[in-house]
Formats: sequence, C-alpha cells, structure tokens
Amino acid sequence: MREYSIAAIPADGIGPEVIAAGIRVLEALETRLGDVKFNFKSFDWGSNYYKKHGVMMPADGLKQLKPFDAIYFGAVGAPDVPDHITLWGLRLPICQGFDQYANVRPTKILPGIKSPLRDVGPGDLDWVIVRENSEGEYAGNGGRVHRGLPEEVATETSVFTRVGCERVLRFAFRLAQSRPRKHLTVSTKSNAQRHAMVMWDEIAEQVSKEFPDVTWDKTLVDAMTVRMTLNPKSLDTIVASNLQADILSDLAGALAGSLGVAPTANIDPERRYPSMFEPIHGSAFDITGKGIANPVASFWTAVQMLDHLGEQDGAARIMRAVEKVTGAGVLTPDVGGKNNTKDVTDAVIDAIHSSNL
Ligand SMILES: NC(=O)c1ccc[n+]([C@@H]2O[C@H](COP(=O)([O-])OP(=O)(O)OC[C@H]3O[C@@H](n4cnc5c(N)ncnc54)[C@H](O)[C@@H]3O)[C@@H](O)[C@H]2O)c1
Repeated sequence: MREYSIAAIPADGIGPEVIAAGIRVLEALETRLGDVKFNFKSFDWGSNYYKKHGVMMPADGLKQLKPFDAIYFGAVGAPDVPDHITLWGLRLPICQGFDQYANVRPTKILPGIKSPLRDVGPGDLDWVIVRENSEGEYAGNGGRVHRGLPEEVATETSVFTRVGCERVLRFAFRLAQSRPRKHLTVSTKSNAQRHAMVMWDEIAEQVSKEFPDVTWDKTLVDAMTVRMTLNPKSLDTIVASNLQADILSDLAGALAGSLGVAPTANIDPERRYPSMFEPIHGSAFDITGKGIANPVASFWTAVQMLDHLGEQDGAARIMRAVEKVTGAGVLTPDVGGKNNTKDVTDAVIDAIHSSNL
C-alpha cells in the first residue's frame, strides 16, 4: 500500500465545498485502485479563524504543515476581511515559506465546455503557464509613509534575483521539453522595465542554451493577451513573472470556459517542502453556499497533486473521468450546465468506478 499524508486547507467561501468534493473523488480512487491510501488532515485556518484568533493561521502553521506530502488548498478571501490580510496571512506565507517557486497552471478546453473564442475547441488551446511564485512584483517589498496625509507615499518594489529568474526559467524550459511540441514562450516587458526585465530576457537566453531541442520565443506581456485570444494555437508552454502570469492565467482560465475549471500547483521542484495544489479561483462570494460551485478545478489540481506524488496512473484516471463527465454534458451553470456540485462529483466518482482501464 502506498500511503500519502495530505493537509487539507479548505479555508473560505466555496473552498470548503470544492475541497470536500475533491476528497470524495480521491477516496473513490483509493477504492478503485486498492493499493493507494490518502490520509487527510483538515485544518480550519482562514477568515473565520482570523475573526476568532486575529491571525489566519497559527504562528507555527508552517511547522505543522512541513511533515505532509502535499497540501490541498481551497480559497481565501472573505467580504468582511481585507484581501491583503487574507492573502498575506495564509496563502502567500505557505508559498513563500515553502519556497514553492514554480506555479504551474495548465489550461485546455475540456470536452463539452465552450470557449468564448469563436471557432476554438478541444485541442486548439492547450497551454501550461509557469508563474514565478517567490519574488518579482509580489515580493512584498515596500511601505507607506505619511499615512492619510496629502503627501502620502506608497512603494511596491519588485525584486528579481538572478537565482530566482534562472531557476524558474530552467523549470519552464524543462517542462516545455517534456511536452510534445517542445516550445516555450517567455513573457516579458523589457521595453518599459529596463532593469529587471532586461535581466530576465538575458537569463532566458542563457538558460535556453541548455535545451537545444526546445524552440522558444519572447513576447511582451501586452502582446501576450492578443496572441492568447487571436492566435491561441501559437502557444504551448509559457513562463512569466509573478504578476504577469497571475493576470495571463486568469485570462487563460476564462478562454478555456470558466475560472471554475482552472487548476494550479505551487511546486517546490527540489522537494524540500510539501507542494500545494489549489483551484485558481477565489472564494466566489456570489455563489457560496448555493451548492453550484464547479468542482472541476479542484479535481484537476488533485490530478496535478497525484502527478507530483508519482501516482501517474491515478492522475490519468481522474482526468479521464472528468473529461468523460464534461463531455457527457454534466456541467455546473458557470459552464452553461444545469447540474450542481454534487451531480458533477457523483458523475466523476461513477466514471472512476466504471472505467475498465
Ligand atoms: N487563490 C485564492 O485563494 C484566491 C484567488 C483569487 C481571489 N481570491 C479571493 O476571493 C475573493 C473573491 O475574488 P474574485 O471575485 O475576484 O474571484 P473569484 O474567483 O472568487 O470569482 C470570480 C467569478 O468567478 C466565479 N467562479 C469562481 N470560481 C468558480 C467555481 N468554482 N464555480 C463557478 N463559478 C466560479 C465566481 O462566482 C465569480 O463570479 C476575494 O477575497 C479574493 O481576494 C482568492
């Protein structure tokens, strides 16, 4: 029996709804395979914890998480707690504290789901976006002085280190190399940002020499949005800075049909710490508690988690089950369906059990 300990942090809004659905699907996989076991431990950290204790997680939170094989995360954010507190109190300290510097965001149009782009269907948009996840524009470097006065100043200084750029660019080239098209697009803004982004471009050029079998190109981030919408087939693997990829991957999720299907993995490629797997979407206040949250992103990120743990067979089984279910038209309202979270989850579980493979 192969056993894995998984820390579940459902947190806020629809997070608990989609993580509960994902755990049901992983438990169905356990039953189907018979030789793998997931030991979940759930943590009640998040905005409700903050309202009781004044912090989003306990001071020794990272120490508690460190022994786990992986973290399965829902979403953070509550209407009555400022977003910078929720994000900087829970998700970012885990990503940065565990040096999960490669954020991997696959996008494709699943069967049965319509892209808002005209004449684009399954197979036409198949990307993986790699987001630098430890520094850049979200390094947290800055401050405010003369608060509230007319002369108030706020700074938010991006930090790009050679080590930080090199490791994420190398990760992206390696990922591109492992995909059939072996093509990487490096997003940049070196026309306007003449220091850090010029260094980013130079390092991309240097790292590319280690991957002679990978073709690559460079596109300004503003032009990336045009390329993604008007020429999606020209892209395969994409790498971008923390802020750039944050924005591009929301666009990618929307172009693939809904944020409700887009997954993300916060990876420590050196495996010194547990990596963290989560849907891209947030708490979705507008649908919390209605039972209609799309659970597909949480299933797909579970697929990423299994891949990372070396459980490729289980990962492929869940992905096939999800594609069978979306292809059969069992869909939540965000992707044009009439089903709820439970219907989609039950259908995916049935597909896992009934698969002959
Ligand atoms: N990783 C995270 O935890 C994360 C990411 C983004 C936003 N947030 C937080 O979430 C809160 C709400 O942010 P927002 O409204 O900008 O983004 P959001 O992702 O929560 O919602 C955007 C829109 O997408 C829809 N949507 C999102 N996930 C869905 C799903 N699974 N099924 C169906 N529809 C879905 C929502 O209903 C909403 O209309 C804020 O507090 C924000 O800071 C957290």
